[in-house]
Amino acid sequence: MLTPENNEILTRSGPGTPMGQLMRAYWTPAMTEAEVPAADEAPVRLQLLGEALVVFRDTQGRIGVLEEHCPHRSASLFFGRNEHDGIRCVYHGWKFDVTGQCVDMPTEPAGSPMCAKTRARAFPARLAGGVLWVYMGDPAQVPPMPDFEWLGLPASHVYVSRWEQDCNYAQAMEGELDSAHVGFLHSLVDQTDADDRKLTGRFFRADTAPLWKIIPTLGGFLACNGRKVEADKRYWRVNQFLLPFYTMIPPHPADARLVRMWVPMSDERCWVLCATFRPDRPLGEKELAAWRNGDNSHRRVVPGTTRPTERLDNNYLIDREDQKKRSFTGIAGVRAQDAMVSESAGPIADRSREHLGSSDRAVVAMRRMLIDAAVSCGRDGVKPASASQPHAFAVRANQTVLPEDLDPGQSDELMATAKPRSPEASMETAK
Ligand code: FES
Ligand SMILES: [Fe+2]
Repeated sequence: MLTPENNEILTRSGPGTPMGQLMRAYWTPAMTEAEVPAADEAPVRLQLLGEALVVFRDTQGRIGVLEEHCPHRSASLFFGRNEHDGIRCVYHGWKFDVTGQCVDMPTEPAGSPMCAKTRARAFPARLAGGVLWVYMGDPAQVPPMPDFEWLGLPASHVYVSRWEQDCNYAQAMEGELDSAHVGFLHSLVDQTDADDRKLTGRFFRADTAPLWKIIPTLGGFLACNGRKVEADKRYWRVNQFLLPFYTMIPPHPADARLVRMWVPMSDERCWVLCATFRPDRPLGEKELAAWRNGDNSHRRVVPGTTRPTERLDNNYLIDREDQKKRSFTGIAGVRAQDAMVSESAGPIADRSREHLGSSDRAVVAMRRMLIDAAVSCGRDGVKPASASQPHAFAVRANQTVLPEDLDPGQSDELMATAKPRSPEASMETAK
């Protein structure tokens, strides 16, 4: 359980809050590249870390991310006109370029210095790995971009999607770190029918109370969970948690790798961005088609929106007959099942009422690390090491079967790519 005070620290990420300051020490993944408007097209709204922003591309293709409210008298720039190299507020015609500089102020007399002195709040933005990244922290301390594996791959190897989740980011992320639910929430009623194509389904059922081992890393921790699958063997999964809101789970052997980002929209809602990628080859048409349809790694959404098809307000289209006979939940789609359990706890769960067990080790570790980092950053101004050391993010989630007496932290197979290597070692490999 968490005290109400710590729950506040964990869940509030608006400007000036400790968690808000921690998150603003990093670049924030905001939307997919495909969602960024084309040059001179209409701006789009973006709600991020409790702030209202607009995103547009000027005539030269430069991306502008501005506070939504006009610095004159707060009309929304979403309704503005994206004119030649700037966005013009339709209330009194003030115009701002992508840096936020006011470039035209037709309501003031010619020669007035006011235009040159007026700025809309603007945020640095850049595209990488099919994602628009926004920096919302101190403009004098722009950090390096995180060195995630997929950011260095050709566009043909990467697919990114984004959808909304109607609960606090930490609550949504807890579901991903909690490996114990997999043998239940995503299972079938008649387990003899289960899909064993990928072997690991069998492992999840063989032992529903995994052993946990939390190994701290430069950027977060490894949540290792080991299931006894034979008399003298354990199946270990090494999930990644990376500050402030990233998770990686190991892919099934033939599948693409993935990174999920649980980004606060407000305190009661979050964006989920998911990057799936193949380091070794371009993505295939079949897997792309499945992902676009919201299969497995991604979420089914109402076409043209980020709104999921299965939601709390339609009870996730639950099929009670299916729940009786076939699936444990009666809800279609792994991601919809995950969202259902997270969202149904309320927008911000009351963590003082929980009864945490041994299967919640990774959830507890994640909360602890985030709260400690937020307090250090918010109160003492000390940023986590990974904010200035991008190689902390150059890691993978892994899985394997090990002899019972081998600690996962001692396994090269699991650890070689799970722990960040020094920047020097990374450069060696790149040569
Ligand atoms: S409110 Fe935007 S120009 Fe007046
Ligand atoms: Fe899940």
